[in-house]
Amino acid sequence: MTTTITVLGAGYVGLSTAALLAQAGFKVYLVEPNPSRLDTIKQGRSFFFEAGLDPIIKLGIDSGNLLPTDSYNIGVPESDFVFSCVGTPDNPDGSSNLAYVYDAAKSAAKLMKPGAVFIQKSTVPVGTGKKIIEKLGLEAGSYISNPEFLREGTALQDTLWFDRIVCGGSDESVLTRVAELYKALEAHRDTIATAAGIEIGSINGSYIATDLNSAELIKVTANAFLALKISFANSIAKLSDAVDADINGIMDAVGADKRIGRAFLNAGRGYGGGCFPKDVSGLISSGLEHGIDLEIMQAAQQVNESMPSYVIEKLKHQLGGNLSGKKIAVLGLAFKKGTSDTRKSPGVKIANLLNTFDVEVLAYDPQALEEAKQDLRRNVLLCTSIEEALVDCDAVVLATDWDELMSLPAQIFANHLNSGAVVIDAVNAYRNHIDLKNLGLDYIGIGR
Ligand code: UGA
Repeated sequence: MTTTITVLGAGYVGLSTAALLAQAGFKVYLVEPNPSRLDTIKQGRSFFFEAGLDPIIKLGIDSGNLLPTDSYNIGVPESDFVFSCVGTPDNPDGSSNLAYVYDAAKSAAKLMKPGAVFIQKSTVPVGTGKKIIEKLGLEAGSYISNPEFLREGTALQDTLWFDRIVCGGSDESVLTRVAELYKALEAHRDTIATAAGIEIGSINGSYIATDLNSAELIKVTANAFLALKISFANSIAKLSDAVDADINGIMDAVGADKRIGRAFLNAGRGYGGGCFPKDVSGLISSGLEHGIDLEIMQAAQQVNESMPSYVIEKLKHQLGGNLSGKKIAVLGLAFKKGTSDTRKSPGVKIANLLNTFDVEVLAYDPQALEEAKQDLRRNVLLCTSIEEALVDCDAVVLATDWDELMSLPAQIFANHLNSGAVVIDAVNAYRNHIDLKNLGLDYIGIGR
């Protein structure tokens, strides 16, 4: 008999998970209450940009394995597994708003058949699973924490070629059943990657079975540690600026030590997105709730919050100490390359901050213009091409590491910017900076 799964919530995690599991041969219901998002998925597309996702959504819809719906009543009663991937927006104090998480668990629990497993994928503070089990009177073993480690922009690759699958709960046989779902996905991964048009990976990840609280804590600890690495790199970048050293070279050498590793040591305008900022403040809140002061994470958060204004201060200094009356382009509004997501995006923050000075700000992004609109100050002018944004500017901020921005020929800058203009590379990754200098433009990075 076909295994039936329901995935609750069609965000980055839910939609990728559902589309992939459908490709592994499972019958997958996907519950999404937003009518316009649901409609787009039913047409075989995603409502956000994620490489490779559209082709497999289309295949899932055409084969009938992927069944989008707005109702819990359709799929949950016949499902063997229910994945909860609903959103956890920020509370004003930085903690996670768990209203959707509780509502989803409550609505699903009422409808689930005996023996079905509820799998929590949403990132929740440690202790949430135990509270849900208690509140809803669930059988403890049937609730699993299975945190998600995929990154936006590489969601499919990360899910198919994972470093680890973590399953936390109290019933070993249930943990094994959940692991089997991922093993089925592993068995189909080459074919799925080919259908999606993404690269075939090479990692053979591990399966980790643990208790509920540990699984919940593994997820936020991993994100917090990566955020800590970035803020550490940014702190050293500031020192590097002060002593005229080069942060990229420093981190290449430091990261060559296998005990440290080079990943997530890229300095620049700081981290953004729907995960790191929220998970860091969530971990700080969890600590405080249990009387543990995670000062180290507070410091990481403060450094990160200082970075957009640090970028602007550097630019101001380079422009002779005054931003007033300048025309400045911000290229890159997505919080990183490969996504249209602009949540807590440093590029958006930089554009808005510049606009609080007497500066004419022009902004461009290859994928995120639409999503950036709602967060940008009214006076920031959105441009539909790089050239349009650059014309007659006194400076440019490179704020996202999109390949098309990082490989842009220096001549394009020279053709459109005012002579002697400053290019500030806030992601430290622009490849043609030597050419820029040869063309009479000023190039600076962060910590370089
Ligand atoms: C992050 C984690 O990397 C995933 O493992 C996790 O599953 C996900 O959060 C989540 O919790 O759902 P994501 O937010 O998609 O993934 O993006 P990352 O690639 O981790 O980048 C986060 C931010 O850090 C971006 O703004 C990026 O530009 C910045 N970053 C990254 C740096 O500033 N420097 C670096 O060296 C690396």
